[in-house]
Amino acid sequence: DDDPRIHGIKSKIRVVPNFPKPDIMFQDITTLLLDPEAFKDTIDLFVERYRGKNISVVAGIEARGFIFGPPIALAIGAKFVPLRKPKKLPGDVIREEYVLEYGRDCLEMHLGAVKPGERALVVDDLIATGGTLCAAMNLLERAEAEVVECACVIELPDLKGRERLKGKPLYVLVESH
Ligand code: PRP
Repeated sequence: DDDPRIHGIKSKIRVVPNFPKPDIMFQDITTLLLDPEAFKDTIDLFVERYRGKNISVVAGIEARGFIFGPPIALAIGAKFVPLRKPKKLPGDVIREEYVLEYGRDCLEMHLGAVKPGERALVVDDLIATGGTLCAAMNLLERAEAEVVECACVIELPDLKGRERLKGKPLYVLVESH
């Protein structure tokens, strides 16, 4: 994308080498949040894309999807549904396990949070291998929602996570190599 706001957003994301482990280039969005103009530009770009698309659910992935998802949901008039790590939600849940580089993790969603036929947007800060977004989409599809698109601030395209999204479109603002 060649929107002039993208460069400002990218410049505020701090890349921290060897965090949390050797050879990982950590993409730190906390520095983006410190800049109100760049943070607002980030939300505005998503809102401009999704407003008027009849989306009734924004599903945000713990933890950093909880930062970007709710302002988008409010602006487009959608509900916000948190997809949480295990054993955080008090009600009845459905659960999807997924494989990480080391070990497994899991996302849960409250039963009944999403109704069959609802149009959903999935939001997170970053796509790496795509395993997390894939699990999120599976939860929504099990609830018979229609996933319209996944939206992330950052993509690591070298990891080819896009290929794991079962043909669903992915929209990102910034790529990092
Ligand atoms: C990061 C990131 C995404 C996920 C992407 O979260 O915020 O949710 O990894 O990785 P993937 O595409 O390879 O699945 P993390 O697992 O660090 O959890 P946290 O946000 O709770 O710290």
